[in-house]
Amino acid sequence: MNIPRLHGWRVVLACRPHGKPLTSDFRLESFAVPALEDGEVLLRVRYLSLDPYMRGTMDDRKSYRPPTPVGGVMVGEAVAEVLESRHSGFRPGELVLARTGWVTHSVLAGQQLARLDERFQPVTTALGILGMPGFTAYTGVENIGRPQQGETVVVAAASGPVGSLVGQLAKIKGARAVGIAGGPEKCTFVREKLGFDAAIDHRAPDFPALLADACPDGIDIYFENVGGAVWQAVLPLLNMHARVPLCGLIAQYSAGSTPAHDFLPATMNELLSRRITVTGFINSDFAAQRPKFLDDVSRWIAEGRIHYRENVISGLENAPGAFIGMLEGSNFGKLLVEI
Ligand SMILES: NC(=O)c1ccc[n+]([C@@H]2O[C@H](COP(=O)([O-])OP(=O)(O)OC[C@H]3O[C@@H](n4cnc5c(N)ncnc54)[C@H](OP(=O)(O)O)[C@@H]3O)[C@@H](O)[C@H]2O)c1
Repeated sequence: MNIPRLHGWRVVLACRPHGKPLTSDFRLESFAVPALEDGEVLLRVRYLSLDPYMRGTMDDRKSYRPPTPVGGVMVGEAVAEVLESRHSGFRPGELVLARTGWVTHSVLAGQQLARLDERFQPVTTALGILGMPGFTAYTGVENIGRPQQGETVVVAAASGPVGSLVGQLAKIKGARAVGIAGGPEKCTFVREKLGFDAAIDHRAPDFPALLADACPDGIDIYFENVGGAVWQAVLPLLNMHARVPLCGLIAQYSAGSTPAHDFLPATMNELLSRRITVTGFINSDFAAQRPKFLDDVSRWIAEGRIHYRENVISGLENAPGAFIGMLEGSNFGKLLVEI
């Protein structure tokens, strides 16, 4: 018989949100950590990643990730330390990458873990620039955007882990990078630290005109992270044969099913008349490219050609508030919870 010997904490979905999530949609609860079976590993989470896709899992609708059941643990990836192991491939003290969810402790099969090698310095990069978000930027740029010398690449959420790498990759390929970000502090960071050619505040009242000024030759590649009003400002600026890697639509994640007004006819009209290609993608579509991504981006970081920013908050109990804030832009860099 397995006797529970340790208690951990977890955040579960208390109820489904209507529109924007509230902290009352989450519940922090303690749980008995099960004893290990053969082949399993007991983990203590060090850093939990908070990512926009988690908003989609809170709704009961079909998507590329299944919904979290009410009462179920919020999903998520973490850097965790092995506390105990009954798997020959892992020893106590090692750090691994694992889909633990929003928890302090987890018991997982050894096959579900990936050991972190020395390239992940600091280890938090395994969840950001060298993790799923960085890989998303890399695959969308390499496979769909494919920027050429002198082309103009525009990306929103430009100070975040996906957008920041998109613009820097565009620069490495000789393109012009224009970032869209919320507020002057993020815009300054995008221009001065990340080296984008321009950064525009999407909250500025004259945002569409400012964006047009920053793109005098139009837009060849728009890496779509946001949708909504940003897409409406971008659409008239897209050049003939523009490419749009469709990565995320964060402005719409909590909007419900009824748009404020139907922008689809205008979108379709522009796609047709300017032969624009929009390609939706999920990073896992390109899983085979992960080794090359890690080689390239870790080398560029070491050479000082790629910069990144992390926003680390403390305590699992603060994860719901930080996650809700991220959906509105209160994070500044890759959002992580230190546990
Ligand atoms: N397809 C895939 O495989 C895949 C994988 C990972 C991520 N994604 C998507 O990539 C996008 C960026 O992810 P991330 O992890 O890098 O997020 P992030 O930048 O760390 O955080 C999201 C950012 O979105 C911006 N934002 C929120 N609402 C907005 C609005 N109405 N208008 C303009 N900007 C808004 C905010 O930045 P500002 O303050 O600058 O506005 C916020 O900080 C998300 O849409 C995400 O779902 C897709």
